[in-house]
Amino acid sequence: MSTAWFNRALLPWYREHKRALPWRETRDPYRIWLSEVILQQTRVDQGLAYWLRFVERYPTVAHLAKAPEDAVLKLWQGLGYYSRARNLRTAAQQVVNDHGGVFPADYARLKGLKGVGEYTAAAIGSIAFGLVEPVVDGNVYRVLARVFGIATPIDSTEGRKEFRALAATLIDHQHPGDHNQAVMELGATVCTPRNPRCGDCPFAPRCIARGTGRIAELPVKAGKATVRVRHFNYLHIRTAKGTYLQKRTGKDIWQGLYELPLIETERAASKVLLSRSLDKLAPGGWIIEKRSGTVVHLLSHQRIETIFWEVVPPKRWKVPKEWLAVTSNMLNAFAVPRLIERYLNGAVTG
Ligand code: ADE
Repeated sequence: MSTAWFNRALLPWYREHKRALPWRETRDPYRIWLSEVILQQTRVDQGLAYWLRFVERYPTVAHLAKAPEDAVLKLWQGLGYYSRARNLRTAAQQVVNDHGGVFPADYARLKGLKGVGEYTAAAIGSIAFGLVEPVVDGNVYRVLARVFGIATPIDSTEGRKEFRALAATLIDHQHPGDHNQAVMELGATVCTPRNPRCGDCPFAPRCIARGTGRIAELPVKAGKATVRVRHFNYLHIRTAKGTYLQKRTGKDIWQGLYELPLIETERAASKVLLSRSLDKLAPGGWIIEKRSGTVVHLLSHQRIETIFWEVVPPKRWKVPKEWLAVTSNMLNAFAVPRLIERYLNGAVTG
């Protein structure tokens, strides 16, 4: 399988779109290691503040090695999984005592440091030392599973092996550190678990998951909790007074937000099924002008399969009292779920 296209698209995308982060401005393995350990616990936006505090308090690995354990734990407070903080300090002592204060520049020795596993060793090795070692974290699983359409469960031995092997064939030998960071960055900022921004993805034309409508299913986790599937039909009704919105009330998702009038159905609605529901709202005379494609919106435990319907109501009918007609210049003033926002902005087609 030729994968040259992957690398041709990846690094140019990364160089243009990567977030400016202080640990990307250095080759200092100590600072890179700190960032990677913190980012195993939290996202970049929260992790940055921790990283800045750590490097200010402990500018070098020697400073961290000398720090009291309590002080390191305090600085780590809020990140959780406190053994990581204890391991940080122990590993710093190993670097000082066993490696003369210099981070070892090979994979096996990096892995010999307390708390440094395959992922961290590959990250430090590639980013700080240019070692050709592929990283495979949650972001990488997601990007590769989708782009290459791989349904092997990522939490199985077989899956781990398969993804690792693929990552190893893909890695750019000239720029292994940037390559690894680029895949992670794409997963963190574009190919996100829910509602990825495929319009901004350099792999969109090649992406198997996208091409086969399986973005929501990939990556596969064998031990995954069940997800409730719901079928939403949103009515886009334009009148002289504006577009109708209603406020979500009740104990359900998006409480308090506004949305287009909603008809929820037991299964994906056909035109006939929708017509029947519309007739219940007001008998006779509805015109269905247009049906969107199915938009899948994922929440942590729900998969909302949505169709937007442009409909014209009967000439004389009683508008439900919860509906309000909103002129187009006022639509932006209402808090709506992202699903609705994308539709109103014209991002939903087909
Ligand atoms: N997540 C963890 N490490 C990362 C890195 N170096 N770049 C982007 N995302 C990351």
